[in-house]
Amino acid sequence: MVRISQAIAAQAAYPFAALAAKRAALEARGMTVIDLSIGDASLPSPTAAVETLRERATRPEHHHYSSYNGVLPLRAAIGGWMKRRFGVTLDIDHEITALMGSKEGLFRFPQAALDPGDIVLYPDPGYPVYAHAIAHAGGQPLPMKLSEKNNFLPDLDALPEETRRRVRMIIVNFPSNPTGATADDPFYTKLYSYARRHDWIVLSDNAYCEIYDDAPPRSTLEFDPRHERTIEFFSFSKSYSMTGWRLGWACGNAKLVQALLKVKGLQDSAPFEPVQFAGIAALNLSDTDMAATRRFYADNRATVKKALAAAGITYCDARAGFYLWARVPAGLTAAEFTDRLLAERQVLVTPGTAFGPNGEGWFRIAVTRPPDQMAAAAERIGQPWGQATCAPDPSSDPSGDV
Ligand SMILES: Cc1ncc(COP(=O)(O)O)c(C=O)c1O
Repeated sequence: MVRISQAIAAQAAYPFAALAAKRAALEARGMTVIDLSIGDASLPSPTAAVETLRERATRPEHHHYSSYNGVLPLRAAIGGWMKRRFGVTLDIDHEITALMGSKEGLFRFPQAALDPGDIVLYPDPGYPVYAHAIAHAGGQPLPMKLSEKNNFLPDLDALPEETRRRVRMIIVNFPSNPTGATADDPFYTKLYSYARRHDWIVLSDNAYCEIYDDAPPRSTLEFDPRHERTIEFFSFSKSYSMTGWRLGWACGNAKLVQALLKVKGLQDSAPFEPVQFAGIAALNLSDTDMAATRRFYADNRATVKKALAAAGITYCDARAGFYLWARVPAGLTAAEFTDRLLAERQVLVTPGTAFGPNGEGWFRIAVTRPPDQMAAAAERIGQPWGQATCAPDPSSDPSGDV
């Protein structure tokens, strides 16, 4: 009999693959499910990107392997966008690389940065890829347990000095998946004071930076003006509704970006060139187009918040990203609640535990479906679940690491 790696055999499926299977099972029985689980936009990709893809795909010169870091016009467009959006100046030859989606780079970067046993701080709850990527690279994942009382920001002061000294890299993600939290300037200032003191690498995942109600999120590179220790990841998926296109980029410290490229070069090439040119079209979208996208998510968030509040379900009052992080009604675990919501009300959301053990007691709603579906789902979530008080806050557990 064939054998596979024991580690992979023991590995649970990626949470969203398991949720998709649950949805498929219900749909096979003729039910219609409103899927608010995975963070996939229901808005169409920008017309300018689609048209550019169509035109570029007819040109044979784009049918070959692309340069590993992406075509120069894309890197130039990214450089221009970073300058306009954040005031950050990048060397487009050494400090930027295209990616086949930011997930690709997030998974590979720890292989480029870590030696066996290196400690990496990452958010719990957080995007599930981080912990797997660290462990896969032989590093030691150390969760930063985020709590409501700290606005879901890591409490870096609470880390023992001895631990801070041993940390090699920290991963931050604002606006956050799954909590929707954003970081303020004092947080970033503190982050970099520790990072400089202890020589940390700062990996910032800025996948949701263009989805916000009023205050544009910052880039960590604004706080590391000489790009000494930062690598930041960006995605076309969420900002431009291009999840299926698989396009993102990493930028920042040249040594870090080039190390990532070295690993990447061993495993793949760059994205299909017509997709890269379509990315340029997306980066050149007008403020009016982007304002319409932001309004779509802001309105959806407002619809769901209203229904949750009316039902007595508490939530993290996110004003950016496209998720709402809400408390599971009392007496149910996150998995029990989300299973019941699916089976009894045909709404699929993600249990908080998909984002780490510290997500127990919470669930995540992606506010990505058309407004009528959001309103219908919110109404079903808000119907009474027995006791309508809140579950205890698991993050108040004093044994938490951070
Ligand atoms: C926080 C975060 N980072 C990165 C990604 C990956 O995005 P992509 O690979 O589509 O660029 C996601 C996707 O859900 C995410 O939520």
